[in-house]
Order: sequence, then C-alpha cells, then structure tokens
Amino acid sequence: MVDSDGDGELEARLVEQEEFEPSREFVEQANVSDPKIYDEFEKNWPGCWEQAAALLDWDSPYDEVLDDSNPPFYEWFTGGKLNASYNCLDRHVENGDKNRVAIKWEGEHGDTRTYTYQDLSREVNEFAAALRDLGVEEDDVVTLYMPMIPELPIAMLACARIGAPHSVVFAGFSAEALATRMNSADSRFLVTCDGYYRRGDPLDHLDKANEGLDGVDHGVDAAVVVDRLGDDGFGHDLRGNQHDWDGLLDEHSGDRVDPVQRDAEDMLFLMYTSGTTGQPKGVKHTTGGYLSYAAWTSHAVLDIEKEDTYWCAADIGWITGHSYIVYGPLALGTTTVMYEGTPDYPNRSRLWELVEKYAVDIFYTAPTAIRAFMKWGTQFPERHDLSSLRLLGTVGEPINPRAWKWYYKHIGDEECPVVDTWWQTETGGMMITTLPGVGNMKPGSAGPPLPGVDAKVVDTGGEEVEAGRAGYLTVNKPWPGMLRTLYKNDERFIDEYWREYSDTDSDDPDDWVYFPEDGAKIDDDGYITILGRVDDVINVSGHRLGTMEIESAIVGVEGVAEAAVVGGKHDVKGEAVYAYVITEEGQAEDDEMRDRIVQGVEDAIGPIARPEQVLFTPELPKTRSGKIMRRLLEEIANGEELGDTTTLRNPEIVEEIQRKADAR
Ligand code: WTA
Repeated sequence: MVDSDGDGELEARLVEQEEFEPSREFVEQANVSDPKIYDEFEKNWPGCWEQAAALLDWDSPYDEVLDDSNPPFYEWFTGGKLNASYNCLDRHVENGDKNRVAIKWEGEHGDTRTYTYQDLSREVNEFAAALRDLGVEEDDVVTLYMPMIPELPIAMLACARIGAPHSVVFAGFSAEALATRMNSADSRFLVTCDGYYRRGDPLDHLDKANEGLDGVDHGVDAAVVVDRLGDDGFGHDLRGNQHDWDGLLDEHSGDRVDPVQRDAEDMLFLMYTSGTTGQPKGVKHTTGGYLSYAAWTSHAVLDIEKEDTYWCAADIGWITGHSYIVYGPLALGTTTVMYEGTPDYPNRSRLWELVEKYAVDIFYTAPTAIRAFMKWGTQFPERHDLSSLRLLGTVGEPINPRAWKWYYKHIGDEECPVVDTWWQTETGGMMITTLPGVGNMKPGSAGPPLPGVDAKVVDTGGEEVEAGRAGYLTVNKPWPGMLRTLYKNDERFIDEYWREYSDTDSDDPDDWVYFPEDGAKIDDDGYITILGRVDDVINVSGHRLGTMEIESAIVGVEGVAEAAVVGGKHDVKGEAVYAYVITEEGQAEDDEMRDRIVQGVEDAIGPIARPEQVLFTPELPKTRSGKIMRRLLEEIANGEELGDTTTLRNPEIVEEIQRKADAR
C-alpha cells in the first residue's frame, strides 16, 4: 500500500490505535444513541421491527409483523398496504416539506439540477401517467438501463407509483447483459437514454440499448429514451416503439396518478446480481419490508435527518444506490446528492469540491474509492473545506485498517464516526456495522450485527467458531429487508441461500439459516470482520462479478477451449480479474488473441469485468475428480507461495503456469 501521508507522530499514534470512540458531540445529536437498543430488540423480537415500519405511512395497517409459517419464505408486515412513491414524495409535500430539496444533481461538466419534493413529485406523476399510457400495468417489470441522471430515480418512483416493479440494469453493463436480464424478467418495457458523459466525452448508450433490445426474445412493447446529450448526441433515430422522454412529459404535463395501494409483500423491484453459476440471479425485494428496512437503517446507521445534505457516491445501478441514494433517504425526506461523473474528472478534487459546495453532512462510499484517494494524496481533500461532514460510511468490500484511518483522518478530521457497513443485494440494507451513536469503532472490522439481526460465524458443521478463528457468516433469523426469492425460481433461492445448520442436520426449514457466502471472524466483543466471498464471486472495485459469467464469456471467444478466472489482489480495486486460458489447437497465443478475449468479456458483461491479465496455458490444474484448483491459480495471481499440489492430477502444470506468470 502506498504511504502518501507523512504525518510523523500523529500518524504513528493513529497506526497503533485499534479502537475509536464516537465524539460526544456526535452521540448527543445521533438518531440512535442508547446502547439498550440491542437488548430491547432482542427481547422484543420480531415486534422490534415495528420501529422500522413506523417510519413509513401505511394506507392500511398490517396484521402481523412476521409471518414465519412457511420458511424460508418469510413474510413481513403482512396485510399492510402502502405505496413506496407516496412514502418518498407525497407525504413530504403534504407535511410542509414541498420546498425542501429532494435531489441535488451534479453533471460531469458541472451542470446542475435541483428538484424539490414538489418538483420531483410532479415529474414522477407525469412519467407514471406516461408509463400507463404506454401500456404498463401493475406487476409488469419495467427495465431501466440508465446512468446517473435524475430521470433514473424519477422512473423508479414512477414505476413504484403504479405498482410496476423496476429492474435497473447498471449502465456500464453490455447489450448482452441487458438482453439476458430483460429475458429473464419477461420485461417488455425499457427506459434508457441516448448517452452520457464519461471523462469529458459523450458516450453512445442508445446503440448498446438497441443491440440489447434486439436480443430480447419476447418482443418489446415500448421504450422511452431520455435525451441527455442534446447537441453532443449520436443522431440516432428513435424506432417505432421508442418515445422521447421530454415529449411524453409534455403530453402528460400536470397529470396526476393516484399511488396504487400495494400489499406489503408485493414486489417493489428486481435486482440482478452475480452468483456461483453463469446465470445472474433476479433478487426480489418487496414494498413493505424492504422500504421499512432501507428507511430504518438510513435513520439508525446513516443518522439521516431531513435537514441534512446526504451523499452516497455509488451508482443507482447497484443495490447501494437503490437503498441509500433513492429509497432510504427519500423515505426520510432528506436531500440526496447525485453525481454523474467519476471522482478524478476533471481533477482529483472533484468529490471534495462537491462536499464543500453542497455542505454535505454525511458521505458514504466504497473502500476502492478510499484507496484511490489515498494513493492520490492528501493535497486534494486539503484544498477544500470539509468541515460540514458529520458522518462517514463505507460499503461493498472489506476496508483495510490503513484506508479506514486515512478516511477518518483526512476526510473526517478525526471527528466523524466511520460506519463500515456489511450487507448484500440480497439483504436489502445494512446488517453488520456499528451504530455510530452507540458503539466504538474498530478499523477493519464491520462491527456487531445491527439490533434485531442475528448473525453468527460458524464452522462447516454449523457450530460457532471461537473468537479469532475464520468461519462462515450466517444469518439465523429473518429480517424485514431480506430478499423473498429469486425471480420465478424458488428452488434456486433455497439451494443458494439456505443451509441446514443444526445439531440434528435437520431438513426442517424452520432450522435453516441464511448463508451469505462470506467468510468472517468474530472477536470477544462480538465484532465481525468480513474476510471475503467463499463462493465463486469476486469483488472488483466493489462490483460483484461471477467468475463463471466471465469464464463463459471467454469460452465464447473463437479459438478458446477452456478458461478459469480467479480474483487476484489489487491495490486499489481490491480484487482484479485474472484469466487462465487454454486455446484450441493451432490458435496463436498472441496479443491479438488476448485483445479478442478482453473484448469478448466487455461485450458479454461490460468493461468492469475486463481481465487484468490473460495467461495462456496448455492445461489447468485439476484435482483427481477433475475440479479446477482455483486456490492455486489465485496464489499464482497473487505471487504467493504455492500451497499443497499433491492432490492434483497434473501437478507439473502448476510450475509451468507460474513460470509464464513470472515472465509477464
Ligand atoms: C461484500 C453490496 C466487507 C461481501 C452492498 C458481500 C463487504 C458482497 C462489505 C455483497 C463490507 C459488502 N465489508 N465486505 N462492509 N459490504 N461486502 O451484493 O462479500 O454488491 O457478500 O452488495 O460485498 O455485494 P453486493
């Protein structure tokens, strides 16, 4: 790790310090500051979760907090009715907050847009009317393939208003990835845009979207296209079933759409994520449980108050953006900042300039970004007044203590607590983290499970491991934000997430626990340190990618016979993609082939999955039963000493691969 701050004594003090207390000033104003909350939630479980539901307005009250009669298909707040867009908009407008800013958007070029709750409500209503007019009915899945422009949250809330679940596909994903997700979700509607800016240049997005649409098997009823680029556009003509966003809003100017009453358990959205197999998983989140949980964690962990300016520098194309740019903050009626661009354009001060400009109170980002800031040096944040900050957060991957301390010191001026929040697409919201107004922080360790969350670290037999020993993370009780199933695939939902850990090795689902596929260890204070994925998922810059997805993309390239992909350690990205490729007989193993492989991965998934290194090999190390020994490939990628190779069928190949790796 690059050491870019030479703070002498102070630095030594920080380096040694293992535990940090939140300041009295922070605790005094915190939304949650009484340590008794842990006991209270435990004693009154599941009734404790009424506190989360109480942050929302319900059209009709629920009958039961938790229905656990059919595990693992748990249901929350059953019988309750509500609408997510009503909760994120109308009620704030009605309660005297109509002129409060809901979204502060900053474009890459410094162009800005400000939406008050009133403005946002108007556009959401108009777009909801437009969607209805295009034929979108309740429960139709609408795919949103959009970058960080305000029309994305507007479209999400418009869908929520009419009870049409959205499925947001990250704009950096390829055409093929879009088509796969639309096919899987039977989605006949798309909202997209002509393009957007990246590092100063306009990027053609509609071309990719169109190619994706061509790959949709069931036909597409309508697409809506936002004109983001104006004169910088690529001159695409809209197709017959494609409509211009602005034109639609003009047609529906002033229209109001009553929010549809949704059942608490009705789907709010689908979010595709990577797993062990090549097929992405459609994670289903519901209206009542998810929204309550997003609002509750935003309140308790992010400490959001209405009066705050809050900024989560993630992309709405991932779950973090759903829960903590859109639903959580807007449900609480605060001001949420949205930034279109990257942290280093036009310069490396960009984020700090925005913190100063908007007097941001709370800032939430990923360790990969923090490691990049660290590498760039302290001169960039030092140029700006960051004193408005009250709380910092991180999410997406383990944060090393050094990066944590750098963030704490150079961004938070040793005054802001840092919450290291562990959670997943599937959990809907944060699960393991300190409560900033309650617990001490230990850099590198996320913290204890949140009140009401029952997480443990167990061995392969399901027994809790001793403090300090590595094991598997499990969640032993349901929680409101949990995924309900994988879209139209209950069987895979059970297979992927539920384990029969109990003394009896029971096949009674009542005994099953949720298995997040993360390794972890726990200390004597019950603080959990996440060690990383234990399945074939790698985490590149906080982006979750399945090695199988990348492998199948590589095998799809002409001339490739077989491929294995592993995650190797990377200074900034956390992990990077390392590909080991066997070519077909007669295929040249040259740079041209390497380029085609990289291109194949970009076409199938997107540039985020681009291999850092492609290594050709005549064979892959395999066990006698024919399983690829990924551990060895990882050790080679990391330049580590190799572990045991005696169980291999072809031990000699390991040396050969290593020699090639050393030569590159
Ligand atoms: C990892 C992102 C360590 C973990 C919200 C998890 C973390 C996966 C942390 C989920 C953290 C997330 N410390 N690891 N604070 N937060 N992870 O679905 O491996 O994109 O399983 O959700 O990211 O990634 P996903």
